Amino acid sequence: MLKKVRKAVFPVGGLGTRFLPATKAMPKEMLPVVDKPLIQYAVEEARDAGIEEFIFVTGRGKTIIEDHFDRSYELESVLSERSKEELLKELMDSVPNAGTVAYIRQQEPLGLGHAVWCAKRLVGNEPFAVILADDLILAKTPCLAQMTAAREGVGGGNMLAVMKVPHEHTSRYGILSPGKEEGALVEVEGLVEKPNPAFAPSDLAVIGRYILEPNIFPVLENQDRGAGNEIQLTDALSSLIGGDPFNGMKFEGTRFDCGDKIGFLEANIAFALSREDLGSDMKDIVTKFASNL
Ligand code: UTP
Repeated sequence: MLKKVRKAVFPVGGLGTRFLPATKAMPKEMLPVVDKPLIQYAVEEARDAGIEEFIFVTGRGKTIIEDHFDRSYELESVLSERSKEELLKELMDSVPNAGTVAYIRQQEPLGLGHAVWCAKRLVGNEPFAVILADDLILAKTPCLAQMTAAREGVGGGNMLAVMKVPHEHTSRYGILSPGKEEGALVEVEGLVEKPNPAFAPSDLAVIGRYILEPNIFPVLENQDRGAGNEIQLTDALSSLIGGDPFNGMKFEGTRFDCGDKIGFLEANIAFALSREDLGSDMKDIVTKFASNL
C-alpha cells in the first residue's frame, strides 16, 4: 500500500540576502503577506494536505519562528479579557498540536540540499514533503494537496511542483527535461540547476514544493557542491531519475517569489485583492495608483 505523506520539512536556514536590510535580524520567512508570515501560509498549506508532523530546518537568528508557533499566554489572556474571541481562536488555531513540531539547526547555510539532509533523522524511512515558504502560491486547492492527490494516481515516487517560466529566466531555477505528459503530470527525464537559456532543456521550472522518497538522503550525504557552490537538491534528485516514478506537476494557481522584493510586493497585492475583508478597498487603491501612471 502507498505510504501516506505525513511529514513536511520547512528549510528556513537561508540568509535571505536578496531582501536585505529587512532580513538582517529577521528571517525572511517571517515577512508578512498582508497580515500573516510566509511560514504560516506554508504550515497551513501542509496541514491542508494532511501533514501531521512539521520539521523546521533553522539557522542562527531564526528562533522567532519557534516563538511564532508556540502559545503566547500573555497575549491569549489579554485577548480573552478584551473579549476578542475571534482573534483568540485564530491565534490558537495557528499553533500546531503539542509534539508535532521539531526544529533542527543547519549550522552553516550550505544550500537547500544540505538543509533537507539535516532533517534525515527526523524524517526517517518514509516519503515526505518539502515546502519553501518563500514560494507562496495562491490557489483554490492548496498546491501540496494537489500534489498528494496526484501522487496517489501514479503509485508514489518523487514529485516536484513545476511551472512554465519565461525562457530568459531559466538560469534562476532548476529546469526539467520533460518526458511523457499526462494531464497535469510530466515525467522527469532530467533536471539541470540554473541552466543558461541557451542550454535549458525546457521552460519548465521546479518551484518550492516537493514530495520525496527517503532514498534521497544517502544521495544528499555524498552530494558535491553545485551551482553557487551550494549543495543543490536538484543535483541529488537528478541521480534518482530512472528509479521510482518521478513526475513534475503543473499545479493550478499563481506562484509568487517572496524571496524577491518585486515578487513579495506583487503577492501582497494579489492576496489582499483575494480577501473578502480587504479586496474591495485594495482594488480602489490599485485603481487609484494605476490611473496616475
Ligand atoms: P534561496 O535560494 O532563496 O536562498 O533558498 P536564501 O539564502 O534563503 O536567499 P537569498 O538568495 O540569499 O536571498 C531557497 C530556500 O532554501 C532555504 C531558504 O531558507 C529558502 O527557503 N535554504 C537555502 C536553507 O534552508 N539553507 C540553505 O543553506 C540555503
